[in-house]
Amino acid sequence: MKNPWLDIPFGDYEGHMNSPAVAQLQVLNELFAAVLASHRPKSVAILGCAGGNGLEHIDASVTERVVGIDINPAYLQILRKRFSHSQMNLELVEADFASPTFSVPPVELVFAALVFEYVPTDQAVRTVSRSLVPDGILVAALQLPSAASPPVTKTEFSSLETLAPILELVSPDTFTRACAANGLELVKEQTIPLKQGKKLFAGHYRKGRAMPMLTISVE
Ligand SMILES: C[S@@+](CC[C@H](N)C(=O)[O-])C[C@H]1O[C@@H](n2cnc3c(N)ncnc32)[C@H](O)[C@@H]1O
Repeated sequence: MKNPWLDIPFGDYEGHMNSPAVAQLQVLNELFAAVLASHRPKSVAILGCAGGNGLEHIDASVTERVVGIDINPAYLQILRKRFSHSQMNLELVEADFASPTFSVPPVELVFAALVFEYVPTDQAVRTVSRSLVPDGILVAALQLPSAASPPVTKTEFSSLETLAPILELVSPDTFTRACAANGLELVKEQTIPLKQGKKLFAGHYRKGRAMPMLTISVE
């Protein structure tokens, strides 16, 4: 089955995320800015970077390498154009980040907001863990279930409704267990209110250092 993200025009995506009933672009933008300010990473990868929401907060003198990954090549083209005058060292990768063959040279920070809902959790967390240096940080924003509103809020941009069949909310507990199994320890969690009674969970996970090799001598 073709991934429905490939058929959602960028204008619809941004219009939906910016619409008064959703208003999530600003929330994610502020979260990314806060995460950059507290970690000051030398390198960062953004999974599902779309049009580059928040990339204006990158300080190129601190963050020397920025990798944006998205499955939709048209979104990446828009991002490239929007930031063509930026000083940042930007690599754009068109890929499914949850594919078992996906890898990027490891970075200090992976930021992944509202993307784990579209991929198999265990497989995706495994590839993320591989993409982090020891002590590197993953910040994952997950949509929490809401009694008041469906996972895809209805807006005038009906193309977004094609996501419903592939959108599966991931519980923070399930996600945190998958992270622990891949060497990523939960170090901080936030609950961030959204419109329409929705909420986001933002989990901050640190990658442990590799266990020292055990040498067993048999006498
Ligand atoms: C809801 S948006 C993410 C919001 C964005 N992170 C932000 O902070 O504004 C989801 C993005 O993830 C991308 N995406 C969905 N599945 C993906 C996958 N398997 N691999 C890479 N990108 C994916 C979509 O094309 C879309 O741009």
